[in-house]
Amino acid sequence: MTTHSGPQAGPKTPARQSASTVRAIFLVGFMGAGKTSVGKALGRRLAWPFEDLDDRIQDREKRSVEQIFRESGEKAFRQVETDALREVLDALGSDPRVIALGGGAFVQPENAFLLQREDVATIFLDGPVEELFRRCNKQQVDRPLRGTLDQFQKLYESRRPLYSKASIQLDTSGKDVEAVAEEVSRILAIPQKD
Ligand code: S3P
Repeated sequence: MTTHSGPQAGPKTPARQSASTVRAIFLVGFMGAGKTSVGKALGRRLAWPFEDLDDRIQDREKRSVEQIFRESGEKAFRQVETDALREVLDALGSDPRVIALGGGAFVQPENAFLLQREDVATIFLDGPVEELFRRCNKQQVDRPLRGTLDQFQKLYESRRPLYSKASIQLDTSGKDVEAVAEEVSRILAIPQKD
């Protein structure tokens, strides 16, 4: 499918983010976009550790994402999410890493602002919304904001312009996880592990 970059790229274009300056790759996008599976594959290819921000949130809270939403509400979840993101960014040392964000993280202005750094690449994984919904339905993951197809679609459309502020945008439809991971490493010109 199509690789989008250039005019749709955000303020930090890949050209300004050479392999030597990128210390973290953040995968962003809607539920079902493949952020976690692509992140794991990318981490393996680059030999960079992979982390899912939702896992950090669950570890901090000792509760599942679903429980946090149910017991404390979305506002509380977003606060923990921002705290967890700050923690990840503060800990970025010389060892680079790959991080998958939850679907709502990058659309929070504060989080997007925190990610505007020269040493961070943000990759928006996109795909047709029906496909994203189908993928979510196949997975054993409790997603409090998934809802019906109609609700899912409306939320996706409201967020899409914000995801598009990522440095790179990739259409994942019809591509397997390894192909998307390969594409990310190629666009960022980061050497892969043999
Ligand atoms: C959310 C997406 C989820 C998780 C939480 C909220 C969202 O992550 O962070 O349920 O607001 O879209 P995934 O995108 O990994 O499902």
